Amino acid sequence: MSPSAIYLLLAIALLLFLALSQTHTAPRRAPGRRMAPTHASLFDPLSAAGIGGDGGFQVDVEALKEAFPGEWKPVEEFFSEGGRLNVTERLAYLFRILDRAPIDGGLSYRELEMWNVRQAFDRLIHRTEARMRAHDADGDGAVTLREFLSNLSDRELESNNTAHGKPGWWREQFVNADADGNGSLNHVEFSDFLHPEDSTNAKVQLWLQKEKIKEMDEDRDGKLSFNEFKNRVYDIYKNYAEFESAEEDESQHKLNAEQKFEELDADKDRFLTAEELKPIIHNLHPGEISYAKYYTKYLMHEADENKDGKLTLLEMLEHQYAFYSAVVEDSNSDDNDDDYWHDELR
Ligand SMILES: *[C@@H]1O[C@H](CO)[C@@H](O)[C@H](O)[C@H]1NC(C)=O
Ligand SMILES: *[C@@H]1O[C@H](CO)[C@@H](O)[C@H](O)[C@H]1NC(C)=O
Ligand SMILES: *[C@@H]1O[C@H](CO)[C@@H](O)[C@H](O)[C@H]1NC(C)=O
Ligand SMILES: *[C@@H]1O[C@H](CO)[C@@H](O)[C@H](O)[C@H]1NC(C)=O
Repeated sequence: MSPSAIYLLLAIALLLFLALSQTHTAPRRAPGRRMAPTHASLFDPLSAAGIGGDGGFQVDVEALKEAFPGEWKPVEEFFSEGGRLNVTERLAYLFRILDRAPIDGGLSYRELEMWNVRQAFDRLIHRTEARMRAHDADGDGAVTLREFLSNLSDRELESNNTAHGKPGWWREQFVNADADGNGSLNHVEFSDFLHPEDSTNAKVQLWLQKEKIKEMDEDRDGKLSFNEFKNRVYDIYKNYAEFESAEEDESQHKLNAEQKFEELDADKDRFLTAEELKPIIHNLHPGEISYAKYYTKYLMHEADENKDGKLTLLEMLEHQYAFYSAVVEDSNSDDNDDDYWHDELR
């Protein structure tokens, strides 16, 4: 497959993913204004409004507010009276904020990734909080399995049925997520429980790898043979790997199915176990964070006209569809939305 076909596929996958993955999130809307759904874009100013906190690669909001006292505008200001997002203004605003390390009139992959990953974290937190509110019946800020499966009777809850979605299946994942083992999941643990693909808890990750094996294990022996790998795993892996390494390490994606299988098969028994799937699980089952990184690559690929590894504001404005096309795709009002975007692009 040619690189551009892969980018296109990934872009489509991403749009679908964004559309599907956000159905649980209640979009936050500016009062009384019509606008595109929050879930549609990582660059949506409303989801951006949630940024804050501290930690590794996150935006230090307080420092930014100090650096740009007049710049930290309420998000509503990016919408006209008709509720239209002023993309030009919004991108210019974000550009000033993100062009930090260093301030050089261009956004590097890292600068853009920092923002996208931060947004992904925010969405995870908001989604977890919403589910927490829905399930935390006694309001103690933590969820027990009893609270989570409130749709079941006490007797049903005891069931050892471990088929997908059955009580035993949930219980297993609950125990994995309950890092301190006290029978109650706090926010972090509950997020791992709900979003195993974004978890850093090793037990939860292994559980996900096992689930993945179950899905692809045609002969049900609990591990993947080369044929199962080749039929069910390799193509998915390859598309992502090619995408990931497009501008970097050319050697990686040249591995054919046989070579990749051998590389993963650490104990050389000609089978892949759940443990051996670990190096590629983020390709097979990408979480929000992985997608944020793919999306960053996609944006760089689309908008970096002169391929200097940096996006200027002009390049971003000229490719604003890449930053906001998800909003166009997913707009849920049926009437004026067509000319809504065409207006912006004129
Ligand atoms: C968007 O904002 C810019 C800068 O404030 C302004 O010049 C432009 O007219 C606005 N565009 C629309 C469509 O409102
Ligand atoms: C489920 O398994 C546990 C432990 O093996 C056992 O004590 C319990 O009775 C089982 N529950 C049912 C409903 O079979
Ligand atoms: C109860 O809720 C859980 C979690 O949402 C779901 O997986 C399960 O299918 C539900 N069971 C029944 C019997 O509705
Ligand atoms: C269990 O630990 C969580 C923090 O991990 C805490 O929020 C919760 O209150 C604890 N639950 C009990 C029953 O001690």
